[in-house]
Amino acid sequence: MTAPKSYFVKSYGCQMNVYDAERMGELLEADGLSRASTQGEADLIVLNTCHIREKASEKVYSEIGRIEKAGRSREGGKAMIAVAGCVAQAEGAEIAARARGVDLIVGPQAYHRLPAMVGSATRGERPVDTDLPTLAKFRALGTARKAAPSRFLTIQEGCDKFCTYCVVPYTRGAEVSRPAATLLEEARKLADGGTREITLLGQNVNAYDDGAGTGFADLIAKVADISGIDRIRYTTSHPADMTGELIAAHGEIRELMPYLHLPVQSGNDRILKAMNRSHTAESYLESIAALRRVRPDMAISGDFIVGFPGETEAEFEDTLQIVRQTNYAQAYSFKYSPRPGTPAADMDDQIAEEVKSDRLQRLQALLNEQQLAFNAASVGTRTSVLLERAGKHAGQLIGKTPWLQSVHLHAHGAKTGEIVDVRIESAGPNSLSGVLAERKAA
Ligand code: SAH
Ligand code: SF4
Ligand code: F3S
Repeated sequence: MTAPKSYFVKSYGCQMNVYDAERMGELLEADGLSRASTQGEADLIVLNTCHIREKASEKVYSEIGRIEKAGRSREGGKAMIAVAGCVAQAEGAEIAARARGVDLIVGPQAYHRLPAMVGSATRGERPVDTDLPTLAKFRALGTARKAAPSRFLTIQEGCDKFCTYCVVPYTRGAEVSRPAATLLEEARKLADGGTREITLLGQNVNAYDDGAGTGFADLIAKVADISGIDRIRYTTSHPADMTGELIAAHGEIRELMPYLHLPVQSGNDRILKAMNRSHTAESYLESIAALRRVRPDMAISGDFIVGFPGETEAEFEDTLQIVRQTNYAQAYSFKYSPRPGTPAADMDDQIAEEVKSDRLQRLQALLNEQQLAFNAASVGTRTSVLLERAGKHAGQLIGKTPWLQSVHLHAHGAKTGEIVDVRIESAGPNSLSGVLAERKAA
């Protein structure tokens, strides 16, 4: 096989996978490959997979099939196919056996070895690496990054919570926090390159603790002190780790944006207990209320699972109730999907598909209504927008409000990376449009 000259990473799943995809791209570029603009043109295709729900891994197999059928593209051969991410971790051996066209398999904690593995695949080997050396990976990756107006920064990986439905503790390994010093170095390098907003990432980001005296609220304060960083976000948080200190930080740190993704999963305490969530509906609502006391404009987003084993109609209605009480700006909701090796998959009383679909549809109708109302309320207001990228139309830019709403506007000389003052003129379910409120002469 000839060595691949170009690559394309296709990512599924959560923001951690987006971060990993960026870092894999940086590694491959440092190794001399260039980024192909489409998958079809790439010599090396990396499928960065997600294992969270059933259909996710099926999608991977059909994608592999499609690539094989297309039959491209390296000189003298097909595209090299790498499977990375959480399906690789969970089903590495099975993929190697089932999908002969796959050339290498690399788990989410081993991808710092990707360039070397591409080398062995070029020599005709079929390397598989699903070790979990989280900190060794970060040490090998270093702190140099490509900047952009808004960037992700993984500060913590893995999960020790073991919610009974979830594969993450098995695919990402134990909870590990990166040392604060290297994170701050990575953040400073991003800021030096022009990054204005950093989203701190972790499966359980608010459980961050570097074991050397820096907790999560301290880390946020230190990132806020970096010159050039004007906006900080973090995701995903566990309600049980919303400490008083972290809530207070939302009232004190100007850079911390008034938007929080705080998954509740269910509004019923019996179901929450069966899920092993270690919070109650009441403790969740109390955290939200406390956040809104220190930051009245706090917008909340969440995740929900409907049709968990044994969930009754009345228990599902408790979920609708907590949605009404919280009033979400945005949310993700899913039908419970039994995952191999998780305790909930073996529970009795699995819920029928039609019941799950019906509940999901009712929940989503309510969430969509709240999201639309949240967006509609911003019409006529003036707000700051971080301009992130060009839009589809000439002269159009797309940016984000502090509440993570996308805004489309005409640039009139403004550039990506600027934070501008925008008057919001109209709102849809997924985005806003506006005009520059005032533009000082440059
Ligand atoms: N660490 C985060 C999110 C992890 S996965 C947290 O604790 O909230 C993202 C979301 O996928 C979860 O919040 C949950 O709503 C959903 N999810 C996880 N496992 C699932 C399953 N087996 N079936 C359906 N949804 C699931
Ligand atoms: Fe999964 Fe629960 Fe861990 Fe979130 S906290 S990653 S839902 S086990
Ligand atoms: Fe999916 Fe792995 Fe993220 S299972 S949600 S890509 S941690």
